[in-house]
Amino acid sequence: MKKVGYFNGEIGPLEEMKIPMTARSVYFGDGVYDAAMIANGVVFDLEDHLDRFYNSLRLLDIRNFAFDREQLKKELLRTAAEAEGDVLLLYWQADRGSWPRQHRYPPEDVKANLLITVTPKKLADIRLPVKLITAEDTRYLHCNVKTLNLIPNVMANQKAAEAGCDEAVFHRGSIVTEGSYSNVSILSAGRLITHPADELILPGISRKHLLGLAGKLGVECVEREFTLDEMFGADEVFITGSTTLVRRADSIDGKSVGGRAGELFLTLQGAYMDRVREITGLDIPYR
Ligand code: PDD
Repeated sequence: MKKVGYFNGEIGPLEEMKIPMTARSVYFGDGVYDAAMIANGVVFDLEDHLDRFYNSLRLLDIRNFAFDREQLKKELLRTAAEAEGDVLLLYWQADRGSWPRQHRYPPEDVKANLLITVTPKKLADIRLPVKLITAEDTRYLHCNVKTLNLIPNVMANQKAAEAGCDEAVFHRGSIVTEGSYSNVSILSAGRLITHPADELILPGISRKHLLGLAGKLGVECVEREFTLDEMFGADEVFITGSTTLVRRADSIDGKSVGGRAGELFLTLQGAYMDRVREITGLDIPYR
């Protein structure tokens, strides 16, 4: 199958799958999700994504999810096995079950719904820089939870697309937080600076591994707030994400940025892509 759908145990072509109108995701966006890249049949960093998913379930107090970690893994992998293609996006979400609309949780015996999709993913040419816009971060204070509530992300990303750009960088006042679907970091005076993994950003798995690789390379990493001014004046600005990988930006709000620590950026991007290649065999050019 080209695009595969799964709902509560049933697998079929994505276009033919249906979910109940009473699913809590429909009424309230009352659920959590995660998304990982599959390359050459390998789910990249699946264990990290599972850790984050179960943490999101815990933080949203979704108690009625019936699958333990091994069972969920089995469902994800058997759905993925139906899909064709070298690079795919594995997306899964759990909502608090199907029940006529009421704000409080459904009765305890109602099980959470599990939905999985596996779709082809065309990776961008990561040698090309991205163009960014800035957008006020109007999200709530649970950005560390990967909930289905992505309205500010959707609206900011649409604004970026309408401006002919790739991604929107959120800021709360003067403080840069993250992108609408990626984490944002800067290089400044040889150091990698990125917002702390608190409740204002999603703890990105790509961000985490890039920090680990940078540390191994002897690059000082500082998890602290940075301002819009610092970002506009940084030596490099870049974004990270599971299928975004690692990409530098060359403009924000139409102004040129970065371009002053190209070798350091390429070293970090190269280390990340070497790890991708070692784990999945995926070999895409970055230089
Ligand atoms: N987005 N920040 C936000 C708001 C995100 O939605 C994502 C991921 C990231 C990067 O996280 P990671 O490195 O774990 O992919 C940061 C996914 C891909 C999505 O929503 O499709």
